[in-house]
Amino acid sequence: MKIFNSKILIIVNLLVCTVIFSGCSSSETDELSSEEPIHQFAIKEGKRLFQKLCLPCHGESGKGDGIYWASALDLTPTDLTRFSPTESERIFKTIKYGSEAQGKSNLCPPWKNNHSDEEIGYIVDYILTL
Ligand code: HEC
Repeated sequence: MKIFNSKILIIVNLLVCTVIFSGCSSSETDELSSEEPIHQFAIKEGKRLFQKLCLPCHGESGKGDGIYWASALDLTPTDLTRFSPTESERIFKTIKYGSEAQGKSNLCPPWKNNHSDEEIGYIVDYILTL
């Protein structure tokens, strides 16, 4: 009888664990899917800002072939498609303080005076999709 009881205990334990674990994984998925619309918004807003502020130099594709300014500048604007997510801080800093913040020319202007950190973050998110 004792052995029988401990078997039941093990089975009950297993069931409880399964319920707990499946509970965890489903709440994780919920969290991810509830963040998705926010991310989508960031990318959309980032694209809008990018097209307004950066496209003239960096081009629609971000490759540095903007038709308005690229040919008029002494330097080719950096190809923004080469950045990876680990460089998001660097991109953020450049947008906020200009390319001078990277020890480079002053051709890439700073946007800190008329754009919030939040807006700059959206642009970074968009650039990482290029
Ligand atoms: C007037 C033209 C111009 C505009 C507008 C411009 N850039 Fe640039 N950008 C440049 C040039 C030129 C460079 C290369 C500077 C250098 O190498 O000295 C550059 C470099 C960069 C770099 C690379 C810096 C590094 O890490 O080495 C990033 C990132 C960047 N720009 C992002 C942006 C974003 C985002 C916008 C819009 C918010 C923007 N730029 C607007 C011309 C421009």
